[in-house]
Amino acid sequence: MASKIAVIGDINGQFPTLFPKLATLHSKNNFAFILIVGNLFADPSTATEEDEKNVRSLINGSIPVPVTTYFALGTNAFPAPIIDALESKDGEVCEHLFFLGKRTTMKTTEGIRIVALGGQLDPNIIGGASKDKYPPYYGESDAKILRGATTADILVTTEWPARIRSRSKVEFHPTTEPGAQECLAELCAVLKPRYHFSTSGDFFYEREPFFHTPSEETDGLYPITRFISLAAYGNLSKQKWIYAFSLDPTASHAVSVPSGTTASPLSLPDKKRPAPQDRLVYESSNRGGRRPNKRRRGERRGPLSAADCFFCLSNENVATHLVTSIGDHSYLTTAKGPLTRPDTYPELGFPGHLLIIPLTHQATLGGMEEEERKATYAEMQKYRASMNAMLASVASHKYGSVTWELSKGSLPHTHWQYLPVPVDLIRKGLVEAAFKALAENLHWPKFQKEDVGDGYGESSDFFRVKIWDAKDGSEKSTSLVMRFDESIKFHSQFGREVLAKLLRLDERLDWHDCGQTQEEEERDVAGFKKAFEKFDFTEEE
Ligand SMILES: *[C@@H]1O[C@H](CO)[C@@H](O)[C@H](O)[C@H]1NC(C)=O
Ligand SMILES: *[C@@H]1O[C@H](CO)[C@@H](O)[C@H](O)[C@H]1NC(C)=O
Ligand SMILES: [Zn+2]
Repeated sequence: MASKIAVIGDINGQFPTLFPKLATLHSKNNFAFILIVGNLFADPSTATEEDEKNVRSLINGSIPVPVTTYFALGTNAFPAPIIDALESKDGEVCEHLFFLGKRTTMKTTEGIRIVALGGQLDPNIIGGASKDKYPPYYGESDAKILRGATTADILVTTEWPARIRSRSKVEFHPTTEPGAQECLAELCAVLKPRYHFSTSGDFFYEREPFFHTPSEETDGLYPITRFISLAAYGNLSKQKWIYAFSLDPTASHAVSVPSGTTASPLSLPDKKRPAPQDRLVYESSNRGGRRPNKRRRGERRGPLSAADCFFCLSNENVATHLVTSIGDHSYLTTAKGPLTRPDTYPELGFPGHLLIIPLTHQATLGGMEEEERKATYAEMQKYRASMNAMLASVASHKYGSVTWELSKGSLPHTHWQYLPVPVDLIRKGLVEAAFKALAENLHWPKFQKEDVGDGYGESSDFFRVKIWDAKDGSEKSTSLVMRFDESIKFHSQFGREVLAKLLRLDERLDWHDCGQTQEEEERDVAGFKKAFEKFDFTEEE
């Protein structure tokens, strides 16, 4: 369904007159939401007392915002009271007014996917990605990370993409040309948004729509991007500061070149395109019985297809005798070459190292369609909770559990690994400390105590751990997450390595060294199934 949207450029603190105007427009147009892509607030370093009073009035609700409005980070820093409000109210300034975020990927309730990168490029940002949420600067890695969103309906950037005016016949006589960045051109080329919005102070600029070259990825269709840069509100030059349009996120792309469009200015034919991200053919293999494929020179790169994937139940080569339970959206299997031995936990009598795997062949949970993602995450949580309940019952709360996941766009098929751990190690904080210590040794980013849920809000690759401390009936568990980018060579056995060291099972670090005969595997599966029977929610009569 199409939604009406209005997009606005810089406001520079003039919102006391703007919002009443928007209320009138909204009553006639019934906007789904409004997007402010420039500076909502005056620059704090030059703000007047009047500006400061207006900010207070906005926060205390005496300047009403008529409809859901998202505002981007522009070139100005935010006033301090706004940052306080955003921090204490989780991104909300007052009713209907929300911060879009500096580097963000979001989907509105109308199903419209918005990707935004606010601020100006600061080539000096350490590590290439900006750590701070509010200062109006970003690094090249921020743009790279956003490429992981793969598509967008609306892209919002403070600066222009490089070369955007090439191949265009639109007249252009600005006094000053806005800053333009190569990394934003690349981002736009990858996301192929239907609309790309930016701002340009005292003038309005709308380029002819341009099409992206059809490819396998676009199903041979021609995605069209409209680049529109808005003037500031209340500008004396009377240039366009608001742009209203209807958007249907489900509309399909054009089957041929639409008239009035140009080829993409972002990928000039004589310019070498950046190499696609290096993808590993098969990085994480805990079952299936073959060593990671070393890619030969010249071999085609690309993620593994479902037919070759050892996590896809649809693959006929999958070791189905390890599968212990199949749900509607995920399934449970004992690990091939488990870290623990059948006698590591005498109360159990089986290793207890399991994998919870989505039925969908997808690199990350966050990459799944919304409905599928929510249902899959909920069922994986249910499997985890059921196994926790089983541990409590079989071993009278002697064991807690650790569940870990590597969410990485270049892997073929996401999954969780689950392992019981003596509850003492958890209660003394040793499990948490072990993950943190190895990460620190490797000079990787710090773990945050945070629950990223189904991962949809995450724009980067991450590694997460859920630790359950065996308290009965409590689903309360510690959740840790480490976000990382391409500068980190994350190895897929990190979680196993941490636990191997902690449990003094160093010699079992590599799963290839823990091979079992099929007979042994079947015995362990039978032991697990017997203990899990009562807790398996898929086994209802
Ligand atoms: C809101 O803040 C403004 C500016 O400080 C002040 O004049 C006004 O009285 C406040 N209104 C309420 C309801 O607190
Ligand atoms: C209009 O833009 C010019 C150039 O950016 C600026 O000097 C002027 O203050 C703006 N006018 C208003 C009313 O914002
Ligand atoms: Zn798969």
